[in-house]
Amino acid sequence: MAAVVAVANQKGGVGKTFVACQLSFYTARAGARTLLLELDQQMNASRSLIRGGRVAVAGFTMLDVLEGREGVLPEGDLVLVPGHGGLGALERQPARHNDFVNALQRFLAAVGKDFAVCVMDTNPSPDVRYAAALATADFLLAPVQLNQEAIDGIESLMLHKRYGFFRMRELLNPKLELIGILPNLVEATPFQRANLQQLVLRHPGLLIPVVRGQAAGYAYVPTRTAIAEAQAAGVPLWELRQTSPAEASPCDGVEGKVLQGRSAMPLRSAARDAWREIRPSFDAITARLLREV
Ligand SMILES: Nc1ncnc2c1ncn2[C@@H]1O[C@H](COP(=O)(O)OP(=O)(O)OP(=O)(O)O)[C@@H](O)[C@H]1O
Ligand SMILES: [Mg+2]
Repeated sequence: MAAVVAVANQKGGVGKTFVACQLSFYTARAGARTLLLELDQQMNASRSLIRGGRVAVAGFTMLDVLEGREGVLPEGDLVLVPGHGGLGALERQPARHNDFVNALQRFLAAVGKDFAVCVMDTNPSPDVRYAAALATADFLLAPVQLNQEAIDGIESLMLHKRYGFFRMRELLNPKLELIGILPNLVEATPFQRANLQQLVLRHPGLLIPVVRGQAAGYAYVPTRTAIAEAQAAGVPLWELRQTSPAEASPCDGVEGKVLQGRSAMPLRSAARDAWREIRPSFDAITARLLREV
């Protein structure tokens, strides 16, 4: 049965879609057949992944799944069931909320045996889709940003009376485990370092332990342009290619110097460096998903 992870946080723009997409690429590359479900009506994950052309796309959407209609999934190591613009309207049909949750659980009970991992990219609001994701998942992975508002928001993520992790586990899904919170868009500024320190002190058990070389630390993802570029292209970060002259390797001569000035490093090596930085964090998350730790 697939290990099902909900990538969720009620805050917008913290990197849920980036984590869901790149984690799916990574688990599929590791040989774990992966299903990615997009529950967001913004469809950022679907648009990106379809553009990149590295996924097999189902002929039905997550709106169909939640409304109890679904079809046959395609073959492939990485399969996407896309989002749909109509997903936002489900919240306004409270009489059907239980049906939506049950439909998602039925769907995964039926197709889960064909996958090793299922990743759910969620919408940034606590609503029926958020509840359905947490009611169905085995794991919660929560990207966060290191500003004060977001750190305060972690209390709500865990303790919210209706949608908090503990409440969800108690009411709807006793098997739900927390992989942890994943600080994303981390900058090497004193302010962010202090906020990370504060997070370690206030919520040490929520961070994801990672060993880098000999050093023990926590999973996090720095801000790197290559990450946004890979997401825009819909490709794995580690496979991001140079695509335009402005991104090409600087060559000898004046022209090369101009190019070098415009972007300090050719994109491909910037992507490789970014991937090297975040890979230990993705390894720790993947090991937990595949129950290797
Ligand atoms: N570590 C990072 N470095 C650089 N850019 C990043 C990083 N993480 C995310 N981004 C970019 O920031 C933007 C927001 O990220 P993303 O869409 O993944 O957030 P989200 O939590 O899914 O947002 P929403 O709540 O709207 O669904 C995207 O353009 C993404 O490519
Ligand atoms: Mg998103």
